[in-house]
Amino acid sequence: MISFPGYDDVIREIYYHNQDHVFEYWDELDDREKRSLLEDLSSVDISQLSVLFSTASDESQKKYSYTPAEYMPFPRTEEARARCREARSRGEQHVRDGKVAAFLVAGGQGTRLGFDGPKGAYPVGPVSGKSLFQIHGEKIRAYSKKYNTVIPWLIMTSVANHDETVEFFTTHKYFGLRKEHVYIFPQNMIPSLDFAGKLILKNRCSLFKNPDGHGGSLTALRTSGMITELERRGIETVSYFQVDNPLVKIIDPVFIGFHVMEESEISSKGMMKTGPKEKVGVFVHRSDGKTGILEYSDMTEEMQNARGPEGNLLYCMGNPAIHLFSLKFIDTITSGGALALPYHVAKKKIEALRSGGYAEIRGYKFEKFVFDAIPIARKTILLETLREEEFAPVKNKSGEDSVETARDLMNRLSFRWLAMQGIPVSEKTKVIEISPLRAIEPEDLSGDVPAREKIYLD
Ligand code: UTP
Repeated sequence: MISFPGYDDVIREIYYHNQDHVFEYWDELDDREKRSLLEDLSSVDISQLSVLFSTASDESQKKYSYTPAEYMPFPRTEEARARCREARSRGEQHVRDGKVAAFLVAGGQGTRLGFDGPKGAYPVGPVSGKSLFQIHGEKIRAYSKKYNTVIPWLIMTSVANHDETVEFFTTHKYFGLRKEHVYIFPQNMIPSLDFAGKLILKNRCSLFKNPDGHGGSLTALRTSGMITELERRGIETVSYFQVDNPLVKIIDPVFIGFHVMEESEISSKGMMKTGPKEKVGVFVHRSDGKTGILEYSDMTEEMQNARGPEGNLLYCMGNPAIHLFSLKFIDTITSGGALALPYHVAKKKIEALRSGGYAEIRGYKFEKFVFDAIPIARKTILLETLREEEFAPVKNKSGEDSVETARDLMNRLSFRWLAMQGIPVSEKTKVIEISPLRAIEPEDLSGDVPAREKIYLD
């Protein structure tokens, strides 16, 4: 057994769990490298990983039966519209009072997009070429101005893209936001395992790890000290969104209003699925009485195709990953150490160092999903939202849910907003982009637009 002063316990633990292959290069390491490897190993919960490995291919955990989740439909009656107006006014007051923070999760690896850099730096503006980060940042500036308030912006990165993200924000002068209202912090990491349940070396003195999923964001709010900071600022509501949706309404007063009025702990937006085969998770009511989200891959054919009496899809509420959390709720569920959200397992290719060289192996990656917090909440609400107004995911390089489709959706929404305001657009015009600094909602638009093929309204 190897030894190193001050690390007896961790070394014993590694041998006890038969993971001592991680010391394969021990004799070649200098003291600094040895300490670095042992520090890395100290941060790992080996017992938890053993349990995760033993359940990685266990299907018996899916123990609920499901019915469709109840939701608040998009208002179609005068009464419902009046409720929305009330919610809007409550929500606006909540924002004006400085009780809302924006929380962007941007720690993902963006493998499908294959972009060399943080996904948020990807240029999506159909005319301006603005990055996702810039679009989000300008929205936050616009909301702050509209409601004459400060909206702190939390950005969760990962170890892999943290420095680049900070640099991007610095280069772009925080997109006009004051730096003291923007917090950028990395999420936690968890080691991957090979198919034999063994830790994997990334290099001679560190383990191969991956970010612990967007579900790690709630724990990261605690470990980064953000919960205390938000409490100090008087924040009550955290508006969660993902980096790859340029259409997201980061601050939606109606949504916030319902969240406050209903004293909800987690509120979610849902959108009608485009059809049975759309690969999004759906909101469900579980047999334990809780609301949750069932991933597309966990739905049976029968569930995917199930229809109601009027022929509509039964499991119709797709998840666009837009949520509001009460800060108190996040504080409560993360206060006892690690938050007990389940880990989901994915098989992936990993570049591993073993037997003196690098090789591509296959292994397990463990991730938490933020929506698994929904069943923990005492009170949740689900609000139907219009997909064309709020959802344009940038997941792939081309084809479905790609930059092209997102730009097209942004363009269509610009046309829609102008039409809603009765502003005529020339037949010549093919592409319109509206800067969030010009209009954050259609009502902010007025005046004429030029008759050009491409228009950027800033
Ligand atoms: P996705 O699940 O789409 O993953 O993330 P991804 O990493 O962006 O892309 P792929 O799957 O590798 O192609 C949805 C949102 O959750 C964030 C992402 O940054 C994105 O905003 N996320 C995901 C994290 O913040 N951390 C994670 O560990 C995983």
